[in-house]
Amino acid sequence: MSSHDRVYDDFSSLIPSVEGIDIGRVLRMVAAEFELYKERTPKSFAMLQRAQKHMINGVPTTWHSDWRLPYSFYVARAKGVALWDIDGNEYLDFNLADTPAIFGHSPDDAVTRGIAEQLLDNGVTTMAPTEDAVVVSELLSELYGLPYWYVTLSASDSGRNAINIARSLTGRSKILIFNMAYHGTGDETLCWRPNPDSEVVHRWSHLRPGLDAGANTSVAEFNDLEEVEAILRREDVAVLMTEPHLTDGGFTFPVDGWHDGLCELCDRYGTLLLIDETHTQTVGPGGLTREWGLEPDLFMSGKSIAAGMPVGVIGMSESVAKRYESLLNEGDPSAMGGCMGQGTTNTANAICLRALRLSLEHNFTEETFAKMNASMDIIEQGMNEVIAKHGAPFRTDRMGARTNISFLPERAYDAKCALRGIGFGGLHEYWTYYCLNRGVLLIPFFNMIITSPHHTAEHCVRVVQLWDEVIANLYDR
Ligand SMILES: Cc1ncc(COP(=O)(O)O)c(C=O)c1O
Repeated sequence: MSSHDRVYDDFSSLIPSVEGIDIGRVLRMVAAEFELYKERTPKSFAMLQRAQKHMINGVPTTWHSDWRLPYSFYVARAKGVALWDIDGNEYLDFNLADTPAIFGHSPDDAVTRGIAEQLLDNGVTTMAPTEDAVVVSELLSELYGLPYWYVTLSASDSGRNAINIARSLTGRSKILIFNMAYHGTGDETLCWRPNPDSEVVHRWSHLRPGLDAGANTSVAEFNDLEEVEAILRREDVAVLMTEPHLTDGGFTFPVDGWHDGLCELCDRYGTLLLIDETHTQTVGPGGLTREWGLEPDLFMSGKSIAAGMPVGVIGMSESVAKRYESLLNEGDPSAMGGCMGQGTTNTANAICLRALRLSLEHNFTEETFAKMNASMDIIEQGMNEVIAKHGAPFRTDRMGARTNISFLPERAYDAKCALRGIGFGGLHEYWTYYCLNRGVLLIPFFNMIITSPHHTAEHCVRVVQLWDEVIANLYDR
């Protein structure tokens, strides 16, 4: 473990201070970028006035206000890796909807054409399985090694359903997650511990009054096996949920032996282990589960898995699947029906399954990921050269087609260090909004760059060029 203290609730402790960079000046530069943004987006501003009359903050879902701009831009069109707002500004997209669009926006390929054909000729939703469902379960088994599969509407939905399955099998109610991890919008998973001595609380407790977060959720620090053991020893945890490495607040990497240790502890104390691959899928066709040879009891993914269509999946080991199946069939299976507490009417419908099948067949291939990686090679090498040229204490960490930029020199093995590396409080904002105003779209809440098979060398060089300009401006050179 690093010696970073673990207090998260003091925002100022998350702002890295970098010798030679005046943060006050950087904040003024961020304000200037906001002014420039407003000048470039008058039609989006006008649309906001209209939108606010019938939608909270003028957007249909809170995710769309996560840009943390004075107001969001409204999208006119997205094609390949280009995106146009309604003011006609064109952006090169390296955000890719935070991975659902990693294979490109509306690419003219077999996946898009197949989805369109299904829509036009073969039905959207019929409340009965199609052959695609069977093929999908076979393809998923090949990719990730788990033999049984369940389909949901999103990764968040997978999380909720996987927790239900684990509770049924273990007869326990609690889950264990790692501090600052994100697994979607299930109530149990939106919990954290602001400092080592505090109770587990809901991250947005004002939106969930009266819910006792600690009753259902335990929280440990990532890479702390002793703490995990102390919690699991109580034998009240149904499932331990974790990403292979944390990605939702910078990258937090596992120390050697971490995953073996988790497996061993889960086995010893009768807790099921769930790997959340939703965000690490950019590593390759089988994600980190395959790359690192992980053997979880449960697995979940979503986002990019069906080329951006709303689909999530849950993988199950033989033992979990068989136990769950007999549990269901011990009761009256027809009475359980669709309301076994899991599925919903539109879940696993014909169009979602078609998209999932086509995406697994055509996108989840070594060839596709080789293209994505070739682009990321250019960005990684270029950005590292720029860092060295400026002698800046920054770093990049690469995971396949996704690179995390940190405004700290060291690799993060605890979530606090990873969060500080994002550079909230000036550095992150300047980098993101400088790029936005110059036609490059990056994720607005941490420093990730993602490449798609549709990026060209020229696109990648553009990002490196902007990184060079941003570092020079930060140091006022
Ligand atoms: C690791 C991880 N799991 C689950 C989710 C939930 O995905 P969705 O919002 O598509 O339900 C996310 C979303 O960012 C995620 O990053």
